[in-house]
Amino acid sequence: MPIRETSVTPPPRDFVAPSPRRFVRLIHFRRDVPQIVELLRLAFYDGQGAGRPSSTAFDLPSLWMLKVDPMTNRLGNGLVWEENGRIVGNITILRYPKSKRFLVVNVAVHPEWRRRGIARRLMGAAIEAARREGQTAVLLQVDKKNESAQQLYQHMNFDIVGQMTSWRGDGVGLRRLPPSLQDEPSDTVRRLRPREWKEAFALDRAHLPIEMDWPEPTPHDLYKTGMWQWLFYMLNGRSFEAWRMVTKTGELVGVSGIWGEWGQPFRVRMRVHPLWQGKVERPLFLKTVARLSELTSRRVYWDHPDDPTMNALLQAAKFRPRRTLTHMKLRLAKAGSGEGAK
Ligand SMILES: CC(C)(COP(=O)(O)OP(=O)(O)OC[C@H]1O[C@@H](n2cnc3c(N)ncnc32)[C@H](O)[C@@H]1OP(=O)(O)O)[C@@H](O)C(=O)NCCC(=O)NCCS
Repeated sequence: MPIRETSVTPPPRDFVAPSPRRFVRLIHFRRDVPQIVELLRLAFYDGQGAGRPSSTAFDLPSLWMLKVDPMTNRLGNGLVWEENGRIVGNITILRYPKSKRFLVVNVAVHPEWRRRGIARRLMGAAIEAARREGQTAVLLQVDKKNESAQQLYQHMNFDIVGQMTSWRGDGVGLRRLPPSLQDEPSDTVRRLRPREWKEAFALDRAHLPIEMDWPEPTPHDLYKTGMWQWLFYMLNGRSFEAWRMVTKTGELVGVSGIWGEWGQPFRVRMRVHPLWQGKVERPLFLKTVARLSELTSRRVYWDHPDDPTMNALLQAAKFRPRRTLTHMKLRLAKAGSGEGAK
């Protein structure tokens, strides 16, 4: 039965205890996924202002795509809430064994079944699964404007790790900002040298809490350049260049990278050492935008932790904020450690 039909009467508005007719269970891929897709569409896209999913790891496929797109297999990993034979709640679980990540995405409850504790039960079951697997944390992202979901996670003891804003720009439409008087001399910004990749990565790590590297931590050779990397990029229609910002005393305080891929938007990442944030961004930012204007007329994606200095610069250069996601984490106590979960 399609999920939009409402021939099944919703239960009364008080909490519904699990019973043989309503319960949490694992997803059965073949049987459940079409219903789950419909539920997600209803919860995220058709709902009143809920907007796009804040925490899906992929866009919703059309039903026929389910048969051919292996990415949608991921929808089969997770839990559903079944109500008289019908799926009215869903959680997708993404596991990344290499980085020991346990992520929760696509938390959704049918609008007519909300405020009955279904999401809380689903989350509880997902957290229990993580605990049984020996995971140390559960991570998720939620749209900054989605207060109901944030309340849900805060009630379940998730902590906020930080906020990340996705910005969009067009290579042709970017505005090159004039340097300000306080700027460091421009020779403090220059190309990252091949041997500096480790230093650049250490700076990257210092800037960004590792949990905000989504869905997996960035590989340690992100800034590596050399013969092999160059060959790899060339053969795959890709490009990469990085810029660094040093103080007068030669200290590395900022790094930015520009990644290109044939037919895709350019992606940019800029990191500034926490001790220098708010003081040195401008010259490195100016250089990065100037290079983007030279390199591309295509779209540019720039994700940056939400911070006033960078928000002002990005806006002035004609980037548009698309959305801000709050990253949250539930730390799990190790079995037998006697430590309470936080
Ligand atoms: C967010 C969502 C999953 C909550 O599902 P739910 O089954 O209604 O949630 P629960 O009944 O388990 O609520 C648990 C707690 O979450 C919070 N909460 C849930 N909905 C809320 C709302 N509309 N306003 C304020 N708090 C809310 C409350 O703290 C609630 O506890 P309480 O009822 O004791 O006050 C559901 O509203 C939904 O599907 N929204 C659209 C999709 C979405 O935004 N998903 C989150 C993506 S990160």
